[in-house]
Order: sequence, then structure tokens, then C-alpha cells
Amino acid sequence: MTTSGSADLVIVANRLPVDRVRDAEGNPAWRRSPGGLVSALEPVLRRNDGAWIGWPGGDEAGLEPFTEDGLRLVPVALSAQEIEEFYEGFSNGTLWPLYHDLVAKPEFHREWWDAYVAVNQRFAMAAAETAAKNATVWVQDYQLQLVPQMLRELRPDLKIGFYLHIPFPPTELFQQLPWRRQILEGLLGADLIGFQLAGGAANFVRLVRQRVGHRTHRDTIELPDGRLVRARNYPISIDAAAYEELARSEGVAKRAVEIRAQLGDPETVFLGVDRLDYTKGIRARLRAYGELIEEGVIDVGKSVFVQVATPSRERVEQYRLLRDEIDRLVGRLNGDLARIGRPAVSYLHSSYPKEEMAALYRAADVMVVTPYRDGMNLVAKEYVACRFDDDGALVLSEFAGAAHELRQAWQVNPYDLNGMKATLVEASRADPKERTRRMRALRKQVLENDVAHWADSFLTDLAGDVKPKR
Ligand code: F6P
Repeated sequence: MTTSGSADLVIVANRLPVDRVRDAEGNPAWRRSPGGLVSALEPVLRRNDGAWIGWPGGDEAGLEPFTEDGLRLVPVALSAQEIEEFYEGFSNGTLWPLYHDLVAKPEFHREWWDAYVAVNQRFAMAAAETAAKNATVWVQDYQLQLVPQMLRELRPDLKIGFYLHIPFPPTELFQQLPWRRQILEGLLGADLIGFQLAGGAANFVRLVRQRVGHRTHRDTIELPDGRLVRARNYPISIDAAAYEELARSEGVAKRAVEIRAQLGDPETVFLGVDRLDYTKGIRARLRAYGELIEEGVIDVGKSVFVQVATPSRERVEQYRLLRDEIDRLVGRLNGDLARIGRPAVSYLHSSYPKEEMAALYRAADVMVVTPYRDGMNLVAKEYVACRFDDDGALVLSEFAGAAHELRQAWQVNPYDLNGMKATLVEASRADPKERTRRMRALRKQVLENDVAHWADSFLTDLAGDVKPKR
């Protein structure tokens, strides 16, 4: 057993909710990173004398625990080699593509795995030293799947939860992983394992039965020592009311009008907003849109497609290739199809503050979210939360986790280019009454199931009030 700390609730996530930046004098400082997770957990952390453990980004060593705006933050340092092997390598070159239906080919390297084990051990140690006796520790996401078991060995007194933000793959794909058993056993260190969808939880339970040989009953796994582990779905969400409030603000309203004017006041604005990631289906949606212009179905003089692609994981080979591909495709579409002052695609390789995003959502007639596979996709929910006018059409991939809740969206199969083209046209030409009918239903769903509801349901179940699911 390690000596315990004083926090009654500990969040362990790959990243801290702050970024390392330089202030006006060039001195290093911290800036809050605007994440949904932190806004959901902040009130719970404050109530429970909580702490957040995570990597501050970069390879700066020797950072001590500190308090920022009343939040206790514990940095875990990664060396340059660990960033390469643990973060870019095993997390984003092996697990990310494997868990997203092999949209890209996962690479299996033994030295990446060794780094994954070593870094998970460091996070587990930090959690063990931070948590008070009998505290609750909630571990987040695919980068830290070994932490629950490592932590249980160090601190058997703790309540441990784990939540996977990305999809849990079908059993056939997961079995490719040379370290499949270690990952399953790592997760089984938790008392409660949360997934986005019921299907992911069921895949996990089946794998545990088949590969590890434990007895299972519905969502419950019985370990040889009698301990019970539960695997359930808790679809994540956003702070919907805060998005709506932002969208209603005067500044955002003005900016939305300005955006449309800057785009040349088109009749229809299509919008895509994604991290620049190969799982998001950006290429397919732009190709579909380009073909519609080529065929004369969409008039480039009357419509524009705004695609925001936030830079992401830029040192990983697959992401570099994707960036070049999208650059070329946008160049070709605009070269072939644009007219002076009328681009086919307005492409923005950049990230923007929330206010600008809310204005874009308000300005967009058709929001196009077409990932090949996505754990949830919060952009779809943000769009809905911002449309307090009950207008706007959401085109949503059936392979996004959000498709299970957002049934009233225009759903598409992103692999079916013709189907996607037909749906883009249908959504953009839908009768206003039909758009409103659908948007009202979507808004009810998103506003009633916000991120606070997500965090509360998970933490309540973890605290021991788990009721059997019917
Ligand atoms: O969706 C999984 C996730 O890890 C998010 O938690 C995160 O915001 C996003 O991907 C980007 O991740 P990274 O930390 O690699 O920039």
C-alpha cells in the first residue's frame, strides 16, 4: 500500500484541463482548456475536495502539483520518447485505429506497448498518492486502460471507475491486439466500467468471458475472489444549457449574421466541424458535395460548404497524410468548381473559441457530421443545443454514437456516397415545418440528457446504488 493523499474524488485523464502557455512577459503559465468534461466534473470536484491528474502536454519535467482557480491539479510528466511511444504510438497509432473499426491500419510495436505500461504505472502511482482513504477514483479513456488494475494493487481501499470515451470494438477486431488479455485485466481493476453504447459494454463482457474465463451475468462480471465488476453504457453529452445561452447572446447573434454576409449571403450554408482525423469522414462528405455541384444539383453561386478542421496529432503519420489529402481535395474542388468570390468549400484548418463555434452553428442551415466511426460526437449535440430557433438540419452518420439518441437527424451511411448525396439534398430542401419538427425532438433529447446527468449517473452507480437493469 502507498501512503494516501487527501482528495476524496480523483479524476485521472490523459490530459490536464489546463494548457501550458507563455504569459505577456514570456513566463510559463496555465490556461484553462475549454473541455466539456471539466465543466461537468468541476462542481463535483469542488464538492468533494477533488483533484485532477493528467499530462500537461509537452515534455517539461519537474512540474509540481498546483491549484488553479480552486482546482487541485497534479501533472504527470512524459519524456519526448514517451510522447512518441505512449501518446503518438500505442494510444494513437495502435488503439485509436483498432477501436475505430480499422478505419486506418493499426501498428503493433512491442516498444510502444512497453511505454504504455510504464506510463500507465506512473499515472496509477500519482493517483495512489493523491487519493484519500476510501476515496473514489475515476479513470478516463483509452490511454489509461491499465490504470484500474495497477491502482487496485497499490490501493485496495479505493472505489475505482473507468470510462471509455471512444468506441469499444467488436470482439473480432479486439482479438487482433497482442496484449488483449492485459488490457481486459487492466480494466477489470475497476468496480464500474462505463461505455458510450450498450453494444460496447456487451462486447467487453463477452470478451472477458471468452478470453479471461470469468463468469458473467448480463452486465456483471464475477471475479474469482468474489468481487463484482459492472460494465454499462453512459452516453456522454455537453453542457447544453450553457451552449444555448451562448448561442442566444447578442454577440453570437451578430457574428452569425456577419459570417453569412462574409460568405456572400448564400441561400444555403453547409457546415462540417471536426478534429482533422481520418475517422471523421471529411473526405467522403466533401467529395459528395463536389459531385452535387458537378451534376448541377447544387449551385455554387447559391451554396457553400464551410469545413472547420481543427489541427490534431500532427506528428502522427496517418494524420499528416490526411492533411495533405484534404488540402489537395479542397484545392481541386475549388479549382474546378468555384467562381470568383464563390468558393465551393471554405476550408479552415484552425481551432476557434466557443463563441465563434456557436455563431457558425447559428449560421449553418445544414450541419454535416459523417464519421465512419465515432464514440459519441459532441459537435452534433452542440449544433442542436445552439438551435434554440428550432431550425437547421442535422445530417448524422449512423456510425456516430450520437445516432442512437439523435434519431430525428437525417441519418446516413458515410460509406454510401450516393445515399449521402441524396440526404444532403433532402435535408437542405426540407420543408421548414419538417426541420422544426425534427429539431424540437432533437433538442428535447439533448437538453434533458446533459453532461451533468452523465457524470451524476456514473458516479451514483459507482457509489453503490447500482440498480439491476431490466
Ligand atoms: O475522443 C477522444 C479524445 O481523446 C478526446 O478526449 C480528446 O478531446 C480528443 O480525443 C483529442 O485528443 P488528444 O488528446 O489526442 O488531442
